[in-house]
Parts: sequence; structure tokens; C-alpha cells
Amino acid sequence: MSLQERIDQTIRNVPDFPKPGIQFKDITPILEDPKLSEEVVAAFAQFWKGKVDAIAGVESRGFLFGFPLAMQLNVPFILIRKKGKLPYQTVSYKYDLEYGSAEIEMHVGAVKDGMNVLIHDDLLATGGTAGAAAELIKKEGGKVAGFSFLVELEFLKGADKLSSYSDVVQRIVSY
Ligand code: PRP
Ligand code: MG
Repeated sequence: MSLQERIDQTIRNVPDFPKPGIQFKDITPILEDPKLSEEVVAAFAQFWKGKVDAIAGVESRGFLFGFPLAMQLNVPFILIRKKGKLPYQTVSYKYDLEYGSAEIEMHVGAVKDGMNVLIHDDLLATGGTAGAAAELIKKEGGKVAGFSFLVELEFLKGADKLSSYSDVVQRIVSY
């Protein structure tokens, strides 16, 4: 069975979470399988090896594979967090959600000038979060090398929203 098929069979579909009518793609069973998790990180690493200077992972599930990936590629890992969580001086970006808005932050100085940064998260839905992360990277003088996701919800067309930052969007499985 291919890696995609095994991931597909391992992801748990949870109906009506977090709201009625939404089917949640729960990736936690992958984390319970160290061999499969290792293969996921290897698939990301194979795609990005030699192409990035740093990886920015988006809280919280973007940390799960993002940090092991950074270690594997031997590049710095940068945390992008929800507002108010990072202790040092931060740069922030506010973006719109379906209802209301959200704000993410990153430590000042984490991105060095001209750094080629991969933005990583577990899941691409509308692209709002990853796009906001790209804005933060640019604000700090970095370049967006591309994006990587374990899961893409293709019907939400998130990749379209990201195309102004980069056309390189790796997704291991799409629904
Ligand atoms: C989910 C997911 C992505 C984001 C994708 O995170 O992990 O980060 O939403 O949505 P978008 O493409 O529409 O922006 P969530 O906000 O649920 O937080 P978590 O990762 O901390 O669980
Ligand atoms: Mg998330």
C-alpha cells in the first residue's frame, strides 16, 4: 500500500466536529504509529531537502511534523503561535476568519534577512492561516520557499489563496 493510502486509512474521520455538518480529519492516530510518522517526515524531507533555510510551523499541529522535519533537514525551526503565547518581542499579523478574526505571532529576529522559509502545517483548509504565516515571514524580510501540508481539503481551494506567495504547495493527501 502506498504512503497516501496508509495515511488515508489511519486518519480518523470525526463527524460533526467542531460543528454540526463538519467532518474533522483527525491525524492523531498517525502520531500513535511511530513508523508511519517517520515515513511522513521522510516524505516531507525528500521534497524539501536542500531547498530551504528554515521551517516555520504553525501552532499547534504544525509543530508535530514541522520540528522533526527541521531536525532532519538540519535547519532552524521557527514557531508561529496564536497571540499572547510567545515570551519575547513579537511581530504579529491579524487575519479574517469566517466569523471574526485571528492573530498569529512570531519572535522578532527568528527570520534572518533573505532567509528562504518553508511554511508547514498539518492541514490546508481555506488557506487563511498559512497565508497569514506567509505575511509574517515577508514582514520580517524572509522569502516564502513554499508550503507543506499533510492534508489538503481541496474543495476549499486554499492553494489558490497561497498562490500569490508561492506555487510550491506540497500536500501528501488531498480530499
Ligand atoms: C487548523 C489546522 C490549520 C488551520 C487550517 O488549526 O491545523 O492550522 O486550522 O485552516 P485554514 O486553512 O482555514 O486557515 P486550528 O486553528 O484548528 O488549531 P490547532 O492546530 O491548534 O488545533
Ligand atoms: Mg492548526
